[in-house]
Amino acid sequence: MKGMVFVELFRMAETVMSEDELDDIIDKADLQSDGAYTSVGNYPCGELIQLVVAIGERLDVPIAALQTQFGHWMFDRFVKGYPEFFEGKKDAFEMLEAIDGEVHVEVRKLYPDAELPVFQTERYAEGEGLKMTYASDRPLNHFCLGLIEGCIEHFKSPADIKMHDITSDNRCQAEFLIERTN
Ligand code: HEM
Repeated sequence: MKGMVFVELFRMAETVMSEDELDDIIDKADLQSDGAYTSVGNYPCGELIQLVVAIGERLDVPIAALQTQFGHWMFDRFVKGYPEFFEGKKDAFEMLEAIDGEVHVEVRKLYPDAELPVFQTERYAEGEGLKMTYASDRPLNHFCLGLIEGCIEHFKSPADIKMHDITSDNRCQAEFLIERTN
């Protein structure tokens, strides 16, 4: 997992707690890397999960909800940091359909060691619904939900999202059914 993801998790945490409080959480989490992350480095995803658990416990927020909130935060960071990926996309569905074959392909060129999920997309209900299937070695489906919600808000295309966990054989899998509501 790229260091930038850890750096952003800390930035989000610091909007609701002091630097000292966050340092204390990091110290107690007893991480292999000691919590010293640089944006360009690469670190085990397990440490991100450990940190989300520790921050969630301190804030009394369930881990799934915190992962989703972090997805929203990261989506905003992507919008600000990589505006070129959003150019020419007319709505949230077009954007979501471009993640696997376009956006993450470019991400891999920029960061060859990026650990990315695989997505399949399919329209239904005469194009008013989008089924997006997520598969990853990392259990980040709630983070993914937050990214999708962030995308829908960004494009102001109201939609209802249902997530079904379809994990099998230790590979994390989830199906998102996204239906336009206007
Ligand atoms: C709504 C749109 C998007 C979705 C649903 C999405 C989904 C995801 C998910 C779920 C992950 C976590 C890794 C995993 O689960 O295996 C991830 C990682 C990542 N994505 Fe995306 N993504 C989106 C848009 C973007 C955009 C616009 C960028 C632009 C740079 C981007 C760059 C990255 C990067 C850098 C990582 C981290 C890779 C690593 O840590 O090694 N994503 N994405």
